[in-house]
This record gives sequence, structure tokens and C-alpha cells, in this order.
Amino acid sequence: MIKVSGLRKAYGSVVAVDGVDLHVREGEIFGVLGRSGAGKSTLLRCVNLLERPTEGSVTVGGQELTALGERELRRARQGIGMIHQHFALLSSRTVAGNVAFPLEIMGVPRDERARRVEELLDLVGLAGKAGAYPAQLSGGQKQRVGIARALAGRPSVLLSDEATSALDPGTTQSILALLKRLNRDFGLTILLITHEMDVIKSVCDSAAIMSEGRIEEAGRIADLLARPGSRLTEELFPLPPAEPGSVTITFTGTYSGRADEPVVSQVVRKFDVDVNILGGALEDVAGVSAGRLRVRLTGEESDAALRYLRDRGLLVEVASR
Ligand SMILES: Nc1ncnc2c1ncn2[C@@H]1O[C@H](COP(=O)(O)OP(=O)(O)OP(=O)(O)O)[C@@H](O)[C@H]1O
Ligand SMILES: [Mg+2]
Repeated sequence: MIKVSGLRKAYGSVVAVDGVDLHVREGEIFGVLGRSGAGKSTLLRCVNLLERPTEGSVTVGGQELTALGERELRRARQGIGMIHQHFALLSSRTVAGNVAFPLEIMGVPRDERARRVEELLDLVGLAGKAGAYPAQLSGGQKQRVGIARALAGRPSVLLSDEATSALDPGTTQSILALLKRLNRDFGLTILLITHEMDVIKSVCDSAAIMSEGRIEEAGRIADLLARPGSRLTEELFPLPPAEPGSVTITFTGTYSGRADEPVVSQVVRKFDVDVNILGGALEDVAGVSAGRLRVRLTGEESDAALRYLRDRGLLVEVASR
């Protein structure tokens, strides 16, 4: 649905995006995680060409945006909604007026506009707030207006720039649940950027880690977790530096059982080994239970025990001595 190739954006000598390739599949929620200044907003603004890339191409829904003129681009942008950290609402307009705004620009007739606004406010859970002004709304309600407005043109893609980072944790979860519902019910493809791992954990199917204008790793979350040395795994399940000879077991989406299944006690029962647990973390990620466990294995059958764990689909890494 979104294909970014060799994207570079420089502001004078500052290179904000430095050779990014990104592939977002239709119907997925793709999260880009990175610290402040990593180039996330610049990347997002290049996807709908609010910023002209210095180099590279952007294709959305099969249409190469970087090859379009301004007029065609304006039409193409109607298929791409965007929401913002600070909502970017018009304070002098009511909730209904804000949602109607893009429809006015598109030249949608008044009656149809009113119907569509009502439908959109219903969709985001703001049916009773049509006449309210932004100043009378909570942060979560303001973002719901932002989402309704972004959906006005029936986009197939939604871009989200830190849409929840001005919200408290509970409100964040309710907005994420709304995005997930829109994704599921309408097949809406969502590209979101965030500096919060929790956002990636709770709604994303795929993720990329961005640093200093570059993508460090990207892919489906289950695949990333299964990849040795994954940065995402390091961030999700931090462990102290591995002592020589210690064993790190990563439970991933490819594991046939549940991460909280007592594999360790199985190993102790089946093999002549002792297991010392050195640390670990476990979480629900993208709907699957995943985690890491650091142990020290001692005993005659240590190698056989490691083989057993690998055969069960676990990623098993032994720190070199
Ligand atoms: N319009 C601009 N002119 C000059 N430099 C810019 C411009 N926009 C961004 N930059 C620079 O590009 C780099 C990346 O900025 P960007 O806003 O994309 O980062 P970000 O990852 O979104 O950060 P944050 O998490 O703080 O929003 C920064 O060094 C920033 O100063
Ligand atoms: Mg930003």
C-alpha cells in the first residue's frame, strides 16, 4: 500500500531522512519507533508529499506520488488521511464544522456533507458533540475529531504523527483501540510514528526502528522477535549484558507453545541439567505472548537441552565464553 524507496530529505546541511526504504502492506498497522530528532515526522510528511523528498520515490496505493504534479497530488492526497499530536483543530469551528472542513474543500454538497459528518462523528463516538467547540473537549475527544476529519475523504491510508503522545495512558489506549477498530472494520492501512514502545506493542502488526534518519530494522513484529540480535527485542525485553556462557531464550510468534509454558521445568525434568534463571521479561506483543529469558545451564546434557529448546521453535543464543 505504501512503498518508499531510497528516500532522502535534507534541509541544507541537516539530513533528516537518509536513504529510507519502507514497505507497508495493505490492511496493516505499521509503527515507526524512534527518539526525538530521528526524522520520523519528516519521513511521514514525505509520504503524503507535504514535504518534497530531496531524493527517492513514494508510491501509495499503486500511484507514484513523487511523479505527480501539484493538481494530481491534491487529488491523490484525498486518499491519505493524517492525524497530529496536537490535533490541529480549527478553534473557531464546532466539532461538526471541523469534520465538514475537508468535505467543503472537496466540494461535497451541503446535504451530503451533513450526512457524512453525522456518520463520521458516530463512528468515532462523538455523536452528542457536534455543536461543541474544541476548547470544550478533552484531549481524547479532540483526537477523535481529528480522526473523524482525517476519514472524511474515505482514505485507504491513515498517517499518524504521535497521535497519542499528548494523551494520558488510559486515553491513549482508547484512541489506539479506535484506530485498531478502523483498521479491522474498514481495512484501513495505518502508518504511525511514535516514541512509545507501548504503542508499538498494543496495536502494530509491523514495525521499524528509526535512528538518525535511517531505518535500523523493519518487518513483521513476530519475524523481528525471531531474528537474532534484534533491536526491537532488546528494547522490548531489556536484559543485563550477557555473561559468557549464559543462554538467552527468546519466545516468539513462531514458538509452538505459549511463552508462559513451563519449558524450563520441562527441560529440567527431561535432561540431566540444572537451570539458573538470571533474568527475564514477558509481554503480550501484537496479540501474542512473547519474551526473553536469560539462564545458565549446567550438567552433562546441556547440549541436548539446548537442541530440545531450539526444536520447539525457540530462539536460543549462547553468549561466547
Ligand atoms: N523544516 C525543517 N527545517 C530544518 N530542519 C528540519 C526541518 N524539519 C526537521 N528538521 C530537522 O530534521 C531532523 C529530524 O526532525 P523530525 O522532526 O523529522 O524528527 P522526529 O523524529 O519527528 O522528532 P520528534 O520525535 O521530536 O518529533 C531534526 O534534526 C530537525 O531539526
Ligand atoms: Mg516528530
